[in-house]
Amino acid sequence: MDSNRLIIFDTTLRDGEQSPGAAMTKEEKLRIALQLERLGVDVMEAGFAASSQGDFEAIEQIARHVKDSTVCSLARASLKDIEKAGEAIKLAPRRRIHTFIATSPLHMQAKLRMTPDEVFERAVAAVKACTKYTDDIEFSAEDGYRSEPEFLYRICEAVIAAGATTVNIPDTVGYAVPELYGAFLKDLREKVPNSDKAIWSVHCHNDLGMAVANSLAGVHTGGARQIECTINGLGERAGNCSLEEVVMAIKTRRDFFNLETNINATQIVPASKLVSSITGFPVQPNKAVVGANAFAHASGIHQDGVLKSRETYEIMRAEDVGWTHNKIVLGKLSGRNAFRQRVKELGIPVASETELNDAFFRFKDLADKKSEIFDEDIQALFKTSNTAEHTDRYRFVSLLQTSETGEQPKATVVWTDNGIEKKSEGVGNGPVDATFCAIENEVKSGAELQLYSVNAITGGTESQGDVTVRLALAGRIVNGVGADPDIIAASAKAYLNALSKLSTDAPCNPQHAV
Ligand code: KIV
Ligand code: ZN
Repeated sequence: MDSNRLIIFDTTLRDGEQSPGAAMTKEEKLRIALQLERLGVDVMEAGFAASSQGDFEAIEQIARHVKDSTVCSLARASLKDIEKAGEAIKLAPRRRIHTFIATSPLHMQAKLRMTPDEVFERAVAAVKACTKYTDDIEFSAEDGYRSEPEFLYRICEAVIAAGATTVNIPDTVGYAVPELYGAFLKDLREKVPNSDKAIWSVHCHNDLGMAVANSLAGVHTGGARQIECTINGLGERAGNCSLEEVVMAIKTRRDFFNLETNINATQIVPASKLVSSITGFPVQPNKAVVGANAFAHASGIHQDGVLKSRETYEIMRAEDVGWTHNKIVLGKLSGRNAFRQRVKELGIPVASETELNDAFFRFKDLADKKSEIFDEDIQALFKTSNTAEHTDRYRFVSLLQTSETGEQPKATVVWTDNGIEKKSEGVGNGPVDATFCAIENEVKSGAELQLYSVNAITGGTESQGDVTVRLALAGRIVNGVGADPDIIAASAKAYLNALSKLSTDAPCNPQHAV
């Protein structure tokens, strides 16, 4: 492989999904997978096939649809896991199995209760078992950074000899610091005799906020040529290395890193928004690259400088990472062809003519309520699952809500339950609370509301509200989304969407933990 080529391995759908509350349905996973493909990730870890039937099916579905990226499944170093992984990815034109076992003294003793020799045997046997399904095999030494270097030399040499084509040294607990992690990788590559027969990979968690810095040191000093990362840095605890940050660091500081990726940076912001809306994890405004303020200049001195010459305070261009300027693109009188054209220009995947027609009707409905339709509004039309409005058990119809200072807010909500119209009333502490109570008074789901968030899709008070509702019931956690110029109606839609998921759609992973 070209020594200047850096492989981007995205694990939003596996490690990212391990964030508490980020469990996704099969359909949501597929939508993210298709966006990751457009983004140009080399490898996407679609899930952990042995963890649940839902995740197995999600990986299978992704393997069927994704053509340009390698589709990967995680597997513990066990024959059963590997068989499941091999089965799940078999339809993918490019497929990888990622098998792992912990190698640090602490993990081997306290968690696995295995001796180093047993771990060694298990790792080699696992890699050999993977060769039955694919020749693209990744081995991870879990908690690698806290492992004994001598043991790692031995195990890495053996797994490469057994067929591993990528060797990953995770900083599983986010303990590393850049200089030490880079040197650790460099030492390993120097001491493992057949190290040149595999690609070395970094996988850093962000517990001390250094996942991106550590990953870059692993590449620059350590010679790794694969970075494992997630959109928005989603992941267990404080998250993983953030894809957008690491990719833009490599691109913007090409003078220093001298590396190329296959990423189409203009798809970064759409990917970030999609992941945020599906998981209900908002992106902090000052987040590098994808935060709403990442390219905003508030101080007079900065604004003056940027107006005179953009480079004075900007090292990247907002449009290069996919920010669009709230352009008014369509209106009430726009026809189906203009709509189709804009959808195409925005790179929104449309599976069928029916899907486009449905979105067009939603667009017309929106244009009746909102005079200016922006690109973001069109993206939002496709954001709630394209089919959700048709397949959801509960569908919003209308809302009457009254609030008055000093009076308790009241709501009357009309919706359908499998096509049968229902109407109920509720009171609450505020208009959203009254709306949710109205629905609950009839549905009686008993679900616990874990998160409610509302964001404006575009600027200005005419913007649509984009609401995420997270509900938990009997150990299951689901996110519902809804958008509407009326934020109370958007809230009702999101609540009904979450209830529909609870009633029908099993999440792929009821919070599996590796
Ligand atoms: O953090 C970690 O060690 C992992 C492995 C399974 C690669 O996620
Ligand atoms: Zn991890």
